Amino acid sequence: MAAGLQNPIRPVHRTLPFHLAFYPSMPQEDVSSDTVVPVPSESTERASGIARAGRVDSWQAIKKSLAFALAASDFESGWLDRLSKSADRIRDLTAQDADIALYMMLQTATNDAENYSASHGMYCAVVADLCSAYFEWPEAEAIAIQNAALTMNIGMLLMQNAMAQQIEPLSSAQKLRVEDHAAKSVELLKSAGVDDPLWLEAVRRHHRPVDDGESADPLTPQQRLAQLLQRIDVFTAKLSKRKTRPGSSATVAARDACLDTSGLPDATGATILRVLGLYPPGSFVRLASGEIGVVIRRGDKAHTPVVASVRRGDGGMFNQPMVRNTGNPVHAVQCSLSADQAKIRLDHERVLGARG
Ligand SMILES: [Fe+2]
Repeated sequence: MAAGLQNPIRPVHRTLPFHLAFYPSMPQEDVSSDTVVPVPSESTERASGIARAGRVDSWQAIKKSLAFALAASDFESGWLDRLSKSADRIRDLTAQDADIALYMMLQTATNDAENYSASHGMYCAVVADLCSAYFEWPEAEAIAIQNAALTMNIGMLLMQNAMAQQIEPLSSAQKLRVEDHAAKSVELLKSAGVDDPLWLEAVRRHHRPVDDGESADPLTPQQRLAQLLQRIDVFTAKLSKRKTRPGSSATVAARDACLDTSGLPDATGATILRVLGLYPPGSFVRLASGEIGVVIRRGDKAHTPVVASVRRGDGGMFNQPMVRNTGNPVHAVQCSLSADQAKIRLDHERVLGARG
């Protein structure tokens, strides 16, 4: 497990059916009947609403620090040191409260296209951290995949930021750079002094985990890390806003990134859904009561997140966000909504500080 990542989520397996209401073509027997029940860490239990709200500032600060660290061009001097400090801070903040980490990442992805490359890498790193904890991977692998997530696109960092804002189709030159960016990222990491083969290989393979002619049975650690990173990359990119399109709802992103053409998740897709829940923190949902809210914590079951309702069933806004237990049928989740469908700008401190 990654250093500082003592208990971001502790998988507890129970024989509860995985809720598939939004994946009607996925028979229940085709996913493990185990449902991950994220149990908050002790530190999370202790954290008051005020403390939770205070973490908003911490995440906004680390987002800026990481964007600055990645964009610097001093690869042969202080670059790796700054990157390492940012990576450590992200691990610490995720360990303090994984639900707030996921909430902040998704809200940033759906509302803020500035510094896209850094924000996207940070979201991937947080999800990779939680998945590697779920798999109980060795610490070296957990750190390698997180570092790879943060740095996989440095070979096209500025161009990736520009592409998130770009309306026109990619030019031929841009397509060439996209094609080459994984190799370029490895080159820059080596010039910065990175010599961890797992980190470097996960970056090199992050769009193509298995080389032509290479065996993948069983997967090597490098292939395994790259395969998980590739899926997380696709899933979080679907959720993210671009100039040309809004972010997808959680249901659409899960369908596109975690299910195959027959509507079934493979092992990696199922793991991502188990770790994040069907409605990840930060995603908008409509409840059976007609209220619209945002998920603030994963719940006892994948389909029963804790939601802060912000819009009443009659369309008016609540004065204070109301915490809803969606395990109660009155407040059951009816469907997920994209940020564009929800059309609600959130005050994160108030939402995360809301009490149940
Ligand atoms: Fe990439």
